Amino acid sequence: MKFFIDTANVEEIKKAMEWGILDGVTTNPSLIAKEGVDHKTRVMEIVKVVGDLPVSAECVESDYEKLLAEAKDIASWAPNIYVKVPMTPTALEVVKELSPNGVNFNVTLVFSLPQALLAAKAGASFVSFFVGRIDDMGSGEAAQNIEDAVQMVETYEFPKDPEILVASIRGPLQVVESIRSGAHIATIPYKIMEQLFHHPLTDLGVKKFYDDYLKATGKTA
Ligand code: E4P
Repeated sequence: MKFFIDTANVEEIKKAMEWGILDGVTTNPSLIAKEGVDHKTRVMEIVKVVGDLPVSAECVESDYEKLLAEAKDIASWAPNIYVKVPMTPTALEVVKELSPNGVNFNVTLVFSLPQALLAAKAGASFVSFFVGRIDDMGSGEAAQNIEDAVQMVETYEFPKDPEILVASIRGPLQVVESIRSGAHIATIPYKIMEQLFHHPLTDLGVKKFYDDYLKATGKTA
């Protein structure tokens, strides 16, 4: 499973790059707003840090002509940009129009299997399932939805061979569910990525090995 970081913070992206575990970046208008920066400037800063890894940058327009122009513009920023559009009929028209010309789309705000089917058929490269927002409602369907969507894209033919991307992750358990469901990608906030490293038995084990080494060698810490 690929690991994307879900942030618009450059320092967090640099850290994840240093760990050597990063396969891509997703941003959205809320994450950009949190940073208080210009959209294009920040996306280009991110591209500079991650090289040719995929970077998702989201459109905000909803009118067809405006969204088409915005999607073309964002796609022109760098070859590894994935243009993020919401799961709406108008946005899927834009996907259908531009994806055959080499534009990669990340269709976002997907909450159901039929929505995933529509996005895949239109020509999405990534289909972003929002598990956290579904789980927040207490529906408990999120993990099954991912598993079904993965099976769907592996069973049928679609224009862009879409990957199922698990988004809106709130904690390590949803990362576990993503792995178990066979998701192709999980996009994870920095704080949760950090949590994934830790296990109390790892910390205890590291301490015991070091203490035994000191005891055996007579060295002091
Ligand atoms: C990523 O592509 C999504 O925009 C993001 O994961 C949404 O997360 P949220 O539900 O925490 O806002």
